[in-house]
Amino acid sequence: MSTTPQSQTGVKAESVLEAQAPAISPSEAESIARRAFDIEATAHPMDSERDQNFQLRAKDGSQWVLKIANPAEDPALLDMQTQALLHIARVDPSLAIPRLKVTSDGALFHEIDGADGRRFIVRVLSFLPGQLLDDATLHPALLRDVGAMAARLARALRGFFHPAARHALLWDLTQAPALRTRTHHIEEQGRRRVVEKVLDHFDEKVLPQLKKQRAQVIHNDVSRLNTLVDGHRVTGVIDFGDLIHAPLVCDLAVPIAELIREQPDPIAAAAGITAGYHAVTALEDDELRLIFDLVSTRCAMEIAVANWRVCDHPENSDYIMAGVEKAGTLLRQMREWGAERMYTALRRACATPVSIEASDFTRTPSNEDSQQSLIERRRQRLGPELELFYDKPVHAVRGEGVWLIDDTGRSLLDAYNNVPSVGHCHPTVVQALARQAATLNTNTRYLYKSVIEYAERLTATMPADLSVCMFVCSGSEANDLAWRLAKAHTGNSGGIVMEDAYHGTTDAVYELSPADYGIDKGRTLAEYIATVPAPDGYRGQFRRDDPRYVDRYVACFDNAIASLDTRGFAPAAFYLDPVLSSNGIMVPPPGYLSAAFKKVRAAGGLCVSDEVQSGFGRTGDHFWGFEAHDVVPDIVTLGKPIGNGLSMAAVVTTPAIVASLMQETDFFSTTGGNPVACAVGLAVLDVLEQEGLQERAARVGAKLRSHIEKLAEQHALIGEVRGAGLFIGVEFVRDHSTLEPAAKETAAVANRMRELGVLVGIDGPRSNVLKIRPPLVFDENHALQLANTLDQALRATQSRN
Ligand SMILES: Cc1ncc(COP(=O)(O)O)c(C=O)c1O
Repeated sequence: MSTTPQSQTGVKAESVLEAQAPAISPSEAESIARRAFDIEATAHPMDSERDQNFQLRAKDGSQWVLKIANPAEDPALLDMQTQALLHIARVDPSLAIPRLKVTSDGALFHEIDGADGRRFIVRVLSFLPGQLLDDATLHPALLRDVGAMAARLARALRGFFHPAARHALLWDLTQAPALRTRTHHIEEQGRRRVVEKVLDHFDEKVLPQLKKQRAQVIHNDVSRLNTLVDGHRVTGVIDFGDLIHAPLVCDLAVPIAELIREQPDPIAAAAGITAGYHAVTALEDDELRLIFDLVSTRCAMEIAVANWRVCDHPENSDYIMAGVEKAGTLLRQMREWGAERMYTALRRACATPVSIEASDFTRTPSNEDSQQSLIERRRQRLGPELELFYDKPVHAVRGEGVWLIDDTGRSLLDAYNNVPSVGHCHPTVVQALARQAATLNTNTRYLYKSVIEYAERLTATMPADLSVCMFVCSGSEANDLAWRLAKAHTGNSGGIVMEDAYHGTTDAVYELSPADYGIDKGRTLAEYIATVPAPDGYRGQFRRDDPRYVDRYVACFDNAIASLDTRGFAPAAFYLDPVLSSNGIMVPPPGYLSAAFKKVRAAGGLCVSDEVQSGFGRTGDHFWGFEAHDVVPDIVTLGKPIGNGLSMAAVVTTPAIVASLMQETDFFSTTGGNPVACAVGLAVLDVLEQEGLQERAARVGAKLRSHIEKLAEQHALIGEVRGAGLFIGVEFVRDHSTLEPAAKETAAVANRMRELGVLVGIDGPRSNVLKIRPPLVFDENHALQLANTLDQALRATQSRN
């Protein structure tokens, strides 16, 4: 472990804080101003941590600051500050920083002898007007401007160097581990441990990375007390006392650490400051990754320094300890968020080529936007029947990774939405979309490379026979097109689907979707449709305790085919969602699908794997759901996660099947496969690959399942936990022998979880299956949070019953 840093100039870092500040009277200050600087003014004392400062109000209306440096301050450092001010004034004259006034003899400073025999260096700087940031309301636009100002200042300092620049400074983030020798002053044990952990982590993990970053002389203290503002604008930065040669990114960490405390949405505030900085000087990815640790470390430093200093100066306890509580709270919050969350938000803020006003992040809902009023307006214009999730609907204003942020700034852990599968508003996807939308958007009747490249990438993930893509705009359209392909290729017109299947909303596909068909409202399926029961070994017609239960489910295909035959139809296609989502989420048992496919094909039908839910890595062990079953479908349909939320979908099939349809008719979709869709589709594939999300779905999914299986030991309501990867169903029953479905309890648990900040859904024909299907960027901490919340919700639900 390092020890307290020793300056090249021989001055101990903390000695300036320890040495007594000068004690010149206002009348002496006035006299110095007059004699040495030709300023006739009244002197008014100002606060300073280590120097003595006076505001000079001159008779001619001008205002100045007379700075009497602490005698322990290394003259070389004072010279560095002076030279830096002169440098900035030369390279960016419009930057609002204090200007140095030379003495009447043309010198940069004046020296005086104090009454105590010490010598003091006196400088005069212009006084900058404005309100201290400390007294201002931290509007998002202001936070952004603080970031921009810090970047401009650093830019102006880029070409500056001084031999004293790499000096020892207490607030030098790179020297943070030295404070390890001071942490014993932190009385509260828990806090001490946290601070020590942060400092150790910094020493071991962060510092080696930090040393690789670009470095230069930085201001290092763009903070509440050094920044002047007017409304939402920064009007100046003062106090160059912490100037140091250090990694550039440290300069950004300082205002973030200070300004995001007590913000309603601290991550959004950090994103705002970072975006402001990035707009002036582009931040590198490694720098963005470091910000979380630098901010934590800065908070830890603040706590360590304050606790140590208060021991020596108990009389100044209020002043020294102000802010320590807030630093402690932020440190605790940050440990809850984790580094990834902040990194994702910062990256998103920097990657978004369209400017998102920080005010979009933290809006106070107006009356007009109140839940009730929105619900009423929605009811009138979208119809009263359109479903809203949860008893208390979520008014989402922003998405970020695994989080949905509501209109009050509350972050809800999203464990339901599989469409933004690489994470809400993933910056790579957003950037790809915006870049392409700003370049070209046309249709597949023109030649452009991305649609070819995308089709090549997609088909490369499939068995060789599935080599042709057809692009459309929704999962329903893809299944509709698959239906036309199957009919054209087989010459048949019958369909086989699961009893509670759902494949979409078009007229044709609606007939293939008994789950939504309104059978409960007295409707009957079309005569060309036959259903087979889902191979549900838990509560179905045939159960796992019967060793032949799989064969019995397979035999149902014989019945379905025979039933179609008696009505004069042969199957054109059998549609299957490989995770049987609307059936209550269950993966078909081994051997089932290959035997079923054989039977359908023997009857002349094609097999369609509807990968709208199960595709793109969600099931963990495989990229496509069908791959777990050793089968190759004739047609694969894709949707939902394909575009992370952009309306796009695809059908992938064999050239022969496409040719059959083309003999009958043409195919063209105006927006299907357009350049924007392809750019997004490619970006999604890139992210899935680069971030190893399929592997993550397997790993985190297994962890999550094991957490929930443990809960099943304590909560009798849980009948079965099942699924694959990050697609998990938890079936609730009132009685383990009768399997009486617990639909009311399922709704109560989902609603309670929503109140506790975790979003899950409900599925299954009996509405008694909790549907867990988060974005694939879900990690182990999120899994734990979900399991703990489920535990809490189950306790609350069971205690009510
Ligand atoms: C398995 C399956 N197929 C198809 C669809 C229809 O997709 P879309 O809503 O994009 O039309 C859905 C939608 O939920 C689905 O779950």
